Amino acid sequence: MNGQGIDQGAVQDAARLLEQGRLVALPTETVYGLGADAENPAAVASIYAAKGRPQDHPVIVHLAPEGKLEHWACDIPDEARALARAFWPGPLTMILKRAPGIPDAVSGGQDTIGLRCPSHPVAVALLRAFKGGQGGVAAPSANKFGHVSPTLAQHVRDEFAGDASVALVLDGGASQVGIESTIVDLSRLATHGPVLLRPGHVGADAIERVIGQRPAAPDAAAPRASGTLESHYAPSTPVVLQERAALPDVLARLAAAGRKAALIHFSDLSAAHAAVRLPANPQGYAHDLYAALRAMDGVGADLILVEAPPRDDAWLGVNDRLRRAAHGSAGTLQALLEKP
Ligand code: TXA
Ligand code: MG
Repeated sequence: MNGQGIDQGAVQDAARLLEQGRLVALPTETVYGLGADAENPAAVASIYAAKGRPQDHPVIVHLAPEGKLEHWACDIPDEARALARAFWPGPLTMILKRAPGIPDAVSGGQDTIGLRCPSHPVAVALLRAFKGGQGGVAAPSANKFGHVSPTLAQHVRDEFAGDASVALVLDGGASQVGIESTIVDLSRLATHGPVLLRPGHVGADAIERVIGQRPAAPDAAAPRASGTLESHYAPSTPVVLQERAALPDVLARLAAAGRKAALIHFSDLSAAHAAVRLPANPQGYAHDLYAALRAMDGVGADLILVEAPPRDDAWLGVNDRLRRAAHGSAGTLQALLEKP
């Protein structure tokens, strides 16, 4: 979408609603967010209520390209400025020390803050219109807690149908990236180095090229992140990952047992109750993954079988989301194959 294609009236309405403390869903290049004024604790609290999310989970604060890091964070390391120059606006969130004046509602009581400058033109227009471009919009993904993130305005409407607390859903088309931003923790740089809290489109290689240090996997003391819970991004239908080689046999046995399987695959396969074939490259796959999970969740299947993607680094973000979607479904396949 280009600048001319933006509904400026809707963007202005959304900015005024945010300034009044209301919730507005906004498109970003990763997934849709459920936004509120980050400096209004009551507004931030209503995000938690709408999502059904525990109060101690921090939310990401979204800034306009002209936003000032110093307003939100303190002890900002050079590495953070370098990453902002390299990847903002874009799908990278940085965890920094929270500035003293910023309410701890956005941080779930932690002394850090998650900051990101999104690149979606509608998000940028909204962030520029809100508080003269100097505000911050706290926005977790616009889904109920633990559920699949939305990549279309219609997904958001489906999630919050009939919920009057969501004042407006801005439509910006399909989210280009399709999975949530990469999160890198820089709040403990001196002691722990950079830590990759959530893999995404901006890979560890790209981060290393900019700051000369490769972000490590999270340690036990790393800041908590709800998107890093073992069970997350999950549809209601159980999700089961299967290697390509095992799939034809598994599909045949499920059919013989009278079970309905929905299939998400990227290589040549057939014979499921319903199926979605995704692109066989990590960017295309990520773009379509959540819409596929939602679609396959809606076909009345007993399970969603997912052809396991390759394991190399380029697929890290996708594999992370699939693993969490499938968490809790261990034993599902066996149970369905056993005769009732
Ligand atoms: O792509 C995205 O990041 C999307 C769009 C809307 O920007 N947002 C998103 O928000 O995924 P959410 O709330 O669903 O996930 C944000 C993650 C959570 O895992 C949260 O715990 C973590 O960021 N997070 C936010 N602030 C943090 C902080 N101060 N310390 C540690 N983790 C933080
Ligand atoms: Mg989320």
